[in-house]
Amino acid sequence: MNAIAEAITASAPARDELARPLRDLRLSVIDQCNFRCTYCMPREVFDANYRFLNASERLSFDQMMKLVRGFVALGVEKVRITGGEPLLRRGLESFIERLAGLTTLSGAPLDIALTTNGSLLAARARGLRDAGLSRVTVSLDALDDAIFRRMSDVDMPVAQILDGIEQAQAVGLAPVKVNAVIERGVNDSQILPLVRHFMNTDIAVRFIEFMDVGGAAGWSNSTVLTAQNMRAIVENEFALLPLYADESSTSVNYRIANAKGTVGFIASVSQPFCGKCSRARVSADGQLFTCLFAKQGADLKPWLGDAVSSDELIDAISTRWQNRDDQYSELNADRRRSGQRKSWPTVRMSLVGG
Ligand SMILES: C[S@@+](CC[C@H](N)C(=O)[O-])C[C@H]1O[C@@H](n2cnc3c(N)ncnc32)[C@H](O)[C@@H]1O
Ligand code: SF4
Repeated sequence: MNAIAEAITASAPARDELARPLRDLRLSVIDQCNFRCTYCMPREVFDANYRFLNASERLSFDQMMKLVRGFVALGVEKVRITGGEPLLRRGLESFIERLAGLTTLSGAPLDIALTTNGSLLAARARGLRDAGLSRVTVSLDALDDAIFRRMSDVDMPVAQILDGIEQAQAVGLAPVKVNAVIERGVNDSQILPLVRHFMNTDIAVRFIEFMDVGGAAGWSNSTVLTAQNMRAIVENEFALLPLYADESSTSVNYRIANAKGTVGFIASVSQPFCGKCSRARVSADGQLFTCLFAKQGADLKPWLGDAVSSDELIDAISTRWQNRDDQYSELNADRRRSGQRKSWPTVRMSLVGG
């Protein structure tokens, strides 16, 4: 990393209607992916005729830099790069290098994280670290090759993802985390193998409840294995010791007794955490989403050109954050428990990045 630290002038920190601060930005850099996870980009929808964003519709890295500076001025401390599959976006390392030159309002380096399916990570880990990436989360839903292939719908061995995870650790990206979305009856058999595989490493494994989001056409209440159920599966074999969780953490974490490792459970469906959600999401084409379940995003592209000042962009983001009153998951918990799906389409995870 050889970027020169760039301080950003503070604007009044943004708080939404429920007094939630703006702390995290999830930035999707591409809507394409080399996987076809059945719960995210089912092949029958994302087929050869599917119209992905073309290069001119995607934000350029210059536009993204302006955007991130605006978010940092409003209090953002962490940027998570996501997709689609973010490692498919050409030039990502040089973008990360530019991001690494930014400091937060408190003067700390911006925390830069990446969420990836891990398939291209082995060869890229060193360059990503050199560019200034701090941490990486790899999505891996199964250790069993057949289950992994069925869920990701690609012909790739799990070993390729494990290699990426190992390389990320070897070059010093830290922390490295593994996230697994658990679908009842599909990969719940993989919870214990994943725990066993990583329990004596520094890699935290987190199990995520399957959500009724855009792209998850096969979702129904009966496909959700709750965090409580997942924990019970782990506790059948291992004693778990609760770990202190910081305010902003979405996962409830445990140390595995007599082992080095930790596991976490993200109860986004059964115990939603809207009350502490400080996350904004921007899709690869510059739409701001203040909730995964929002009916629509706000197009920020008009503020990202050179002709518009940064102050105007900051005002635009701030106004939208201040008007934010989303708490979909909490307000709809009862409706969902009774088995009803949401009745409106929401943004696809592959466009906004989960
Ligand atoms: C959309 S992907 C984008 C980044 C990258 N391609 C990856 O898979 O890590 C981000 C995360 O969203 C998760 N995800 C997608 N659809 C989901 C759903 N219906 N419920 C819960 N998590 C989901 C994926 O498992 C992945 O961990
Ligand atoms: S979850 Fe990630 S890897 Fe799977 S299809 Fe969606 S974007 Fe691709």
